[in-house]
Amino acid sequence: MDKKQIDWGNLGFAYMPTEQRYVSNYKDGAWDEGGLTTDANVVISECAGVLQYAQTVFEGLKAYTTEDGRTVTFRPDLNASRLKDSAERLEMPAFPEDRFVEAVKQVVKANEAYVPPYGSGATLYLRPYLFGTNPVIGVKPADEFQFRVFCTPVGPYFKGGVKPLTLRVCDFDRAAPHGTGHIKAGLNYAMSLHAIVTAHEEGFDENMYLDSATRTKVEETGGANFLFVTKEGTVVTPKSSTILPSITRRSLLYVAEHYLGLKVEEREVPFEEVKDMAECGLCGTAAVISPVGKIVDHGKEICMPSGMDEMGPVTKKLYDTLTGIQMGRIEAPEGWIVEI
Ligand code: PLP
Ligand code: COI
Repeated sequence: MDKKQIDWGNLGFAYMPTEQRYVSNYKDGAWDEGGLTTDANVVISECAGVLQYAQTVFEGLKAYTTEDGRTVTFRPDLNASRLKDSAERLEMPAFPEDRFVEAVKQVVKANEAYVPPYGSGATLYLRPYLFGTNPVIGVKPADEFQFRVFCTPVGPYFKGGVKPLTLRVCDFDRAAPHGTGHIKAGLNYAMSLHAIVTAHEEGFDENMYLDSATRTKVEETGGANFLFVTKEGTVVTPKSSTILPSITRRSLLYVAEHYLGLKVEEREVPFEEVKDMAECGLCGTAAVISPVGKIVDHGKEICMPSGMDEMGPVTKKLYDTLTGIQMGRIEAPEGWIVEI
């Protein structure tokens, strides 16, 4: 397979159209057979549910070239199941989970020339999504939907790759108790846009959201879960009903416990405890694990002992083991790697 002539090593996290994408439509209570198309444009009613009332949910996962030249994806079944949960919360029909995985495979296969080579530092990002297409003017769910999957080659989510990030404690809330913080709905990201723009204007890389009910507990950022390492070497991640159940975070906890023999805790993390942590990272498909060097709470700086130059040692071990599994250098747990 001849790869495209792309400067893989200098890709940022940006959209580049590729050749084929998958489309399936839902009408009269059923999904059609679906298939690949070269058409990157979506034509829908001006009054479509997605445009009026933001009825849309999405996923993100990656395809990799392994050390021995295979093309693989990482735990796509978990994205399929999370998309189902997201869809149900927004009154949308789930896309069948087996067909989701099949659609992902078809898109990767059809765009294999865009899967970055092993060792290039880039990956192929896949974006499955589902949205209401027919007109709704009263507030109600659509009854026609489209499911699509496109892909685009990407580099690191944060500029500077693995350079530690500076976060601010955000005054805006991301998710309400009993709201939609636990699903991957476009609306959660729409409401984070002002927060991220103002964070960037103030010189921060990202926002640390606290729980909106008490503003005392760590939740997540706009696009990743938190992972902390205590001074005793325990890996701690916040437990909350209002954060996205990150597949990367769940995988890292398993890696920490079963590959690295570390103690792991998934529990509430009071913001007060952050100043006592040894390391902090952001984990997600796009973020992989991006180290955090500094957190600023209204002028008060918390500097992680791991510093501003490189990842802390435990974060680095987690990063190396997870990416080793994804790139085929380290044996994966059963079912984690799906070959195309
Ligand atoms: N939290 C939010 C808000 C996200 O958008 C993402 C990205 O998908 C994550 C966490 C990380 O989830 P995952 O590891 O499944 O990509
Ligand atoms: C992902 O990591 O897949 C996400 O959806 C995060 C997004 C902010 C790019």
